[in-house]
Amino acid sequence: MKAIVAVTSSWGIGFEGDLAFRIPDDMRRFRETTWGHAVIMGRRTYESLGGRPLPGRRCIVVSSRDVPGAETYRDPYAAASAAGDDSFVIGGESVYRELLAFCDETYVTFACRTDGSDIPADRFFPDLDDDGGWHLRSLEGPYLYGHLRYEYRVYRNRDAKPVAVSPNSR
Ligand SMILES: NC(=O)c1ccc[n+]([C@@H]2O[C@H](COP(=O)([O-])OP(=O)(O)OC[C@H]3O[C@@H](n4cnc5c(N)ncnc54)[C@H](OP(=O)(O)O)[C@@H]3O)[C@@H](O)[C@H]2O)c1
Repeated sequence: MKAIVAVTSSWGIGFEGDLAFRIPDDMRRFRETTWGHAVIMGRRTYESLGGRPLPGRRCIVVSSRDVPGAETYRDPYAAASAAGDDSFVIGGESVYRELLAFCDETYVTFACRTDGSDIPADRFFPDLDDDGGWHLRSLEGPYLYGHLRYEYRVYRNRDAKPVAVSPNSR
């Protein structure tokens, strides 16, 4: 299982229920990377995406209640078991924190403002540079989009836990 996330230089991911920033090339990369795979997300992220499944992907939502139109699981581990290894965790903060230990790679889009000021955020991803289990495997960029400078990073987790596949855990 892998995670994919877009972060600010403070590892912020969201602000007031929406993404912390939007870069068209990054959105395209997200679509291409996750296309054809299962994606796991929290109920708030699902609603922020319009409250309907993303096309071309099996969309799995974690929620304590049934979410209309979505394949829903009561807890993130049951969702991961159902999704299996060939899947991406796509957020938000709560689901990343609960499933990151099971991910062997994380695709990170890392963005900052060219004037050095912080992009506001109220939801965060764990700082992988500060976690001994994760190491940077590759880096592409930097690229520029308006007043944002960004790069694509891939981190690898040496200690990823296996996902126990149990399709009946729904
Ligand atoms: N930058 C990025 O790449 C990126 C990606 C995704 C999201 N985001 C941002 O992240 C923010 C949303 O993150 P968030 O942490 O607030 O919400 P979230 O993780 O998307 O969803 C939280 C919800 O998921 C369900 N959930 C999570 N853990 C659960 C558990 N153990 N058992 C049962 N249900 C569980 C609950 O739904 P119920 O309340 O229905 O029980 C909970 O309220 C937004 O700002 C969004 O734009 C950013």
